[in-house]
Amino acid sequence: MRQRIVAGNWKMNTNRAVARQLAGAVVQGVGSETRVQVVVCPPFPYLTEVAEVLAGSPVALGGQNCYERNEGAFTGEVSPTMLVDVGCRYVILGHSERRHILGETDAFIGRKVDAALKAGLRVILCVGETLEERQAGQVNSVFDRQLQGGLAHADKGLLSNVVIAYEPVWAIGTGHTATPEQVQEAHRFLRTRLSEMGVPDLPILYGGSVDAAKAPKLFAAPDVDGGLIGGASLKPDQFLAIVQAALPQG
Ligand code: PGA
Repeated sequence: MRQRIVAGNWKMNTNRAVARQLAGAVVQGVGSETRVQVVVCPPFPYLTEVAEVLAGSPVALGGQNCYERNEGAFTGEVSPTMLVDVGCRYVILGHSERRHILGETDAFIGRKVDAALKAGLRVILCVGETLEERQAGQVNSVFDRQLQGGLAHADKGLLSNVVIAYEPVWAIGTGHTATPEQVQEAHRFLRTRLSEMGVPDLPILYGGSVDAAKAPKLFAAPDVDGGLIGGASLKPDQFLAIVQAALPQG
């Protein structure tokens, strides 16, 4: 059975006190539930404090980004081994905000994925098309480019530590969630590609304006294994309801 995962991407939100409170509420709500792997990804300055709050709970810590090298003269960057050192088990790479606002390329993302996997992190690799690309019928070619680029250097033996997040750019933070049919079609295509790479069982998460009301239908699609949650991950009640919706049915 494929692992189910719900990851909260807090983006550049919270402060020290709010980060602790939010993590505490998630820990309490998740309890000892392990059928869904819950992950929280706070901003870098709060990782250590959130790690303290998560200690002893099944909720995992994740970084929102990392660099492609482990140390050196790279002002402002954070390395994969630093993330591991402060307790991260996951890192989000290739998020569309980094691709589009910070100008990250597939080649750069591919080198970071390799470094993060080698450091022992599980990588949540984000892929997804813009509205223009969808309207031009290019969704699958975007997936191919982003998967090939993102996994170009990944050690074959470490591919099982990759999680894919399908996040249509037009659905992120806009309230325009993709329909369960659109999501299933995209995930099916991604699953086919993963099968060709010998890793058919990698979890594929959906992200983009997921809330507690929409989560059950989205997560019921056969190739959806959970979600990468932005805005709703800042509201404990919403986030915990989304986790609930990701529990295996039946
Ligand atoms: P959203 O963000 O849930 O606020 O749309 C999702 C994401 O960017 O990971």
